[in-house]
Amino acid sequence: MVDFPDHNEESLAAWEKNAEFWDQTQGDDGNHWQRTLVFPYTMELLQPLPSTALEIACGNGNFARQLAGLGVSVTATDGSTAQLERAEARSRGHRINWIRLDATDRSALAALSGASGAPFGAAVCNMALMDIAEITPLFDMLPLALADGAPFVFSVLHPAFNLGPDVRLFVERSETPDGRLVTESGVRITGYLDTGVQHGIASVGQPAQQPYFHRSLTELFTTAFDRGWVLDGIREPSFGDRGDPDSESRLSWDDLPDIPPVLVARMRHRG
Ligand SMILES: C[S@@+](CC[C@H](N)C(=O)[O-])C[C@H]1O[C@@H](n2cnc3c(N)ncnc32)[C@H](O)[C@@H]1O
Repeated sequence: MVDFPDHNEESLAAWEKNAEFWDQTQGDDGNHWQRTLVFPYTMELLQPLPSTALEIACGNGNFARQLAGLGVSVTATDGSTAQLERAEARSRGHRINWIRLDATDRSALAALSGASGAPFGAAVCNMALMDIAEITPLFDMLPLALADGAPFVFSVLHPAFNLGPDVRLFVERSETPDGRLVTESGVRITGYLDTGVQHGIASVGQPAQQPYFHRSLTELFTTAFDRGWVLDGIREPSFGDRGDPDSESRLSWDDLPDIPPVLVARMRHRG
């Protein structure tokens, strides 16, 4: 199952409560994760830049501002009024069209169009599909808002390695037969196929837990494939040697250069 309609209200209510905290942790340009893992690869997969773009679940507008700064005419949407208020307050001087849009609402999605009613040249959704209770409406309706062949680029917590609150990071030290100490770090995966609703936080200190909707790679992509989308770009970024230099912890994603906590994908609708 990929859709959990009974949890949509709960999810949106959590993001209303978390909007101020999220805005503070994201700042103008996104946090360490967004700046290192999400935005560069999303931007790469969006090339060549379209003249118009639709953003789904824009949060505090961190990516919308970047696109607008590059001359793209952006319509940025989110299901949370509080997120949009913060986004607008941070974006004075940017020409961005802000719309409250519940991405599970088929009729609201059907009403979307770019400037003067023209279809958008691209759609983007950063780090949000795992927070959205129903994804079928989006994959069904987005083609109506997009120009023929236009890309939909999305990033998510990597469903295979970073599957929500149950993820367990480890560091282990062992001794080799010839007496050397070896330190290995990694992720212990359990329950990958046990998809469904979990609860957790996106950052330490977040006021309210949010529901996460864990979908396997097959569930996520088959939802899109069954609706006429094809995958034509993919990135699996890890921090590599770009970990947070201020990180105190040796048990963090910053210290796992070989494991991607994020998946970025580009899809196009066959029309
Ligand atoms: C983790 S935040 C990501 C925000 C932003 N894209 C970023 O990268 O910083 C998840 C976002 O999904 C939004 N969201 C959750 N459910 C939604 C829904 N049904 N429709 C639209 N937005 C939703 C939340 O309000 C929140 O802004």
